[in-house]
Amino acid sequence: MPDVSAPLVPRPSVGVQGRPGGFTAESVRQDFPVLHRTVNGHPLVWLDNAATTQKPRQVIEALTAYYSTANSNIHRGAHTMAREATEAYEAGRAAVADFLGAPSPDDVVFVRGTTEAVNLVAQTWGRAHLGPGDDILVPVLEHHSNIVPWQLIAKETRARVVPVPLTRNGEIDQDAYADLLSARTRLVVISHASNVLGTVPPVKEMTALAHRYGARVLVDGAQAVAHFPVDVLDLGADFYALSGHKLFAPTGIGALYTRQEILAGMAPWQGGGNMIESVDFGKTTFAAVPHRMEAGTGHISGVIGLLAAVNWLTSLDRAAVAAYEDALMSYALQALATVPGLELIGSAPDRIAVLTFTLAGHDPATVADWLDRDGIAVRAGHHCAQPALAHYGLESAARASLALYNTSDDVDRLVTSLRGLQASA
Ligand code: ALA
Repeated sequence: MPDVSAPLVPRPSVGVQGRPGGFTAESVRQDFPVLHRTVNGHPLVWLDNAATTQKPRQVIEALTAYYSTANSNIHRGAHTMAREATEAYEAGRAAVADFLGAPSPDDVVFVRGTTEAVNLVAQTWGRAHLGPGDDILVPVLEHHSNIVPWQLIAKETRARVVPVPLTRNGEIDQDAYADLLSARTRLVVISHASNVLGTVPPVKEMTALAHRYGARVLVDGAQAVAHFPVDVLDLGADFYALSGHKLFAPTGIGALYTRQEILAGMAPWQGGGNMIESVDFGKTTFAAVPHRMEAGTGHISGVIGLLAAVNWLTSLDRAAVAAYEDALMSYALQALATVPGLELIGSAPDRIAVLTFTLAGHDPATVADWLDRDGIAVRAGHHCAQPALAHYGLESAARASLALYNTSDDVDRLVTSLRGLQASA
């Protein structure tokens, strides 16, 4: 029987110690209560970060404090608590704008998450600007949330969704992309990091090329924002979407950045309170953006949690975080290579630590189930990216996705458990 506890490969160093604004995985782990629980009798190893990240106590405490001391609706009330809640909500908008390098808080619309952001753009900007014969370029590695909304609006407007192929290693084929761009291209959509292949495409260069054809560019930042700093102006993005829950914040809150000259021209997409200037049965007028895009009571506590998450993340040395995650990914890639029958999907040189794999002799659901019994959480299935998996002839795969609080011990536990599964066969 193979020795499943044999030492793996040299471990990465654990970060930059002892510096204000520095970073160590061990110290940030102290901020995450859930990382200290057990699952099935084993200390938890959370490797499902691409599905959702865990929440630091700073976020949990902000939510508790809000509901314990400050709960109020916003924008409408003429009392102290309404003013306090409104200030906190708008501070959240300013923090997200700063986080993305957006020129103004008014460039940020709060939404439920990336999916809603993409649907908002499709249903407002798309409906107004797409027509018969127009092309929407969609790389094959996109998440379903950046494919299906475009299929829906394309059907309505008689535009075309044009897939941009991938290379074997999971990069967007840049030659094919350049060939597909034309005067018909109205929109290019790109993930800033793939949720299944980890690929980080050259978004800035692709955006500049799309702009030469007069096309707009929407960037899905859901998987990117927790891993590396983003500057929407430097990218040149027209739209940039993120989800709070993949950024250490609560579920149900996200943000859409849109260049102001585009956002100001976008029609409302949902009607209701908060988004109007005046309502009359003869004529209704609308509030200025971004409020025009936020009908009804917003997810106030979600924004407060997102504000706390952004403040928490930006208090760290983000260059040190990115360097640590790179080193941990290299370690994980070497360690996983020691598992018999394991095949990794995607090997783009520029990538985040999303490690999608198959294991010979076991379907992905069995792999996830085996790991779960050892207290290790990974995702198995199509990862809401069926075309990306189909590119590799697969319908399903297992996925371990790392975050800044994961350690080489977590990777060792994963690899040891996988080797144990192979040894048991
Ligand atoms: N988009 C999330 C994932 O990749 C749910 O798992």
